[in-house]
Amino acid sequence: MRVNHVGEVCAQGLYNAQALTTSDPALRSQMLRAAEEETDHLRWTRDRLDSLGARPSLLNPLWYGGAFTLGLLAGRMGDAWSLGFVRETERQVEAHLDGHLDRLPPADVASRAVVERMKADEAAHAAWAQEAGARPLPPGVSTLMRMAARVMTTVAYRI
Ligand SMILES: [Fe+2]
Ligand SMILES: [Fe+2]
Repeated sequence: MRVNHVGEVCAQGLYNAQALTTSDPALRSQMLRAAEEETDHLRWTRDRLDSLGARPSLLNPLWYGGAFTLGLLAGRMGDAWSLGFVRETERQVEAHLDGHLDRLPPADVASRAVVERMKADEAAHAAWAQEAGARPLPPGVSTLMRMAARVMTTVAYRI
């Protein structure tokens, strides 16, 4: 759940940066709307951590800064690439949450409910980005993103 919480911290950084970098007002408000839903996710995962007696990642300021920088970079590539980055990110998060559901104990109904709801929201974010004109990312970029996510999840699991 700490890893999921870090993911939502990153989502804040990404969407806020990408809302800042687009010059299209409609796209900006959609980015901010997605960021708002990510704020719900942030709260739900934090609440679960608290009830489980676990702490959030100590590196959260770092995760946020890294994600914000990545969001700025994606945003500066233009809206189609920026949306492509959103779609790929959300798909990878959805796959991660799916894997987490497989590992979560069936008895932890509260955590399962949070993860299931977030998974549905992330899928909707990917679908929205697709409709808004996401450009498919080169396979090398998706692989790099997956590798970066693996480093993040491994570190955040512990620290
Ligand atoms: Fe989320
Ligand atoms: Fe999302």
